Amino acid sequence: MNDQKMHVRENAITESNGKSESERFHHTQPKLGKRAHELQHFGEVMTRLRIGLSDEVRSQSVTELNQILADSMMLRDLYKKHHWQVSGITFRELHLLFDEHYEDQVKLVDALAERIQILGGVAVAVPQDVAEMTRILRPPKGREEVPVQLSRLLEAHEAILTAARDSAARSAERGDDGTNDLLVSGVIRTNEMQVWFLFEHLIEEPLTEVK
Ligand SMILES: [Fe+2]
Repeated sequence: MNDQKMHVRENAITESNGKSESERFHHTQPKLGKRAHELQHFGEVMTRLRIGLSDEVRSQSVTELNQILADSMMLRDLYKKHHWQVSGITFRELHLLFDEHYEDQVKLVDALAERIQILGGVAVAVPQDVAEMTRILRPPKGREEVPVQLSRLLEAHEAILTAARDSAARSAERGDDGTNDLLVSGVIRTNEMQVWFLFEHLIEEPLTEVK
């Protein structure tokens, strides 16, 4: 292409979209490092949501669900910690059981978080915020014996079950049946089942001698 033709082509591009070649190249690159104001603050609930529940009812349910969510995320991660760090004669059994319970808690955590969003709230999400909110005690970073692992898990389950039952009763009184159903059919049923599988490991049962 000679210089004259090139000049004509550049002019045509500039005239057609108002941008030079270098400007067009710049505009096709990924836009990174963006920050802006939050769309909705944590603790705020969207108004005028059309699901037949008042702002006040949804706000109360969101607050209670966020506490249960934070505690469930902590329990979920306790299960993975113990799945990795368990030791002893019951290693295989507990290694597999802890991972099964972890997977069930993952599903519950997702259902709780999505319920909060459905109600117009904001679900707690990242570990630093969960650590600030949870009432489940922080375990040491190192390994602990099986009975200690089981005790920690059982205490976490009990805290969640107590909160879930209270919230289920309150959400039924408020007319928030969806939250009540999730807490009763999901959180309470699952946690009770997991508690059963744990505490049976704490019964002293000799393998070769009868008592
Ligand atoms: Fe694993």
